[in-house]
Amino acid sequence: MARCFVSRALPGRALERLAGRHEVRIWPGPLPPGRADLEEQLDGAEGWLSLVSDRIDGELLEANPALRVVSNYAVGSDNIDARAAAAHGVAVGVTPDVLTEATADLALGLLLVTARRLREAAADVRAGNWRTWEPEGWLGLELNGATLVIVGPGRIGRATGRRAEAFGMRVLYVGRGDDLGAALAEADVVSLHAPQTDATRHLIDARALAVMKPHALLINTARGGLVDQAALHAALAEGRLGGAGLDVTDPEPLSPSDPLHDLPNVVVLPHIGSATHAARELMAERAVDNLLAGLAGEPLPSPAPRPG
Ligand code: GLV
Repeated sequence: MARCFVSRALPGRALERLAGRHEVRIWPGPLPPGRADLEEQLDGAEGWLSLVSDRIDGELLEANPALRVVSNYAVGSDNIDARAAAAHGVAVGVTPDVLTEATADLALGLLLVTARRLREAAADVRAGNWRTWEPEGWLGLELNGATLVIVGPGRIGRATGRRAEAFGMRVLYVGRGDDLGAALAEADVVSLHAPQTDATRHLIDARALAVMKPHALLINTARGGLVDQAALHAALAEGRLGGAGLDVTDPEPLSPSDPLHDLPNVVVLPHIGSATHAARELMAERAVDNLLAGLAGEPLPSPAPRPG
């Protein structure tokens, strides 16, 4: 029986399975544990079921030499220093596949909300600005025939592309080594699905935004760090971009006073791509599978990508 730390209670019954085999401590707080809390909670822990809100770096791993496995409750693992984990012999697990469809649904939701300007339209109704049926009111982008550029042709990117095709969109996929600028110049909508790495940080910067069409929309359900947010704000505020649907930001949470909120065709969500009952319960099962395997000294069923 090993000691495990779990960063938050999880939906479903997977943690009961973990508790049946190991000593489990679940962080009770409504916010992520701070460094001092972690020092206490991780003391002697061999397994950690972590969240994307946990920053796991070399210093933390150094201070917790008993750790053998960190099982991240996410498909991404950019919150974990992969090199430091490898150097400390800590296995890192993630929860792919089970959140693919939920996240693609949300990307489509943001696409529809921004394409049809639903935030503005609903706000106008509430504010009493809807006085009559308007032939030229709240005009948006017709998806049928529009071009969607998917940046990151992985599982979630392709699931998003399949949905968009059902709406009649022309879908272009851009991966590593492809000409991003040329694709962006063609896009009516750009949807980001790449992992956050040193190579993809600020992939959408001022230069990338400058080649996009002024009516184009940017959807991000991947990681906030893919976008230079100051450059995004400038492009939107100056009318060089049509709108943005952001499920992820940098930082998270985004401050309520951030100027992005003041722009009418920007929708910011609290990182809820995988937030369906089904996905979050299955993610818990996967995370527990990884933790149990790692604690048993076995290969993880869903390991994080190796540090590149
Ligand atoms: C959430 O963002 C995840 O990586 O699963």
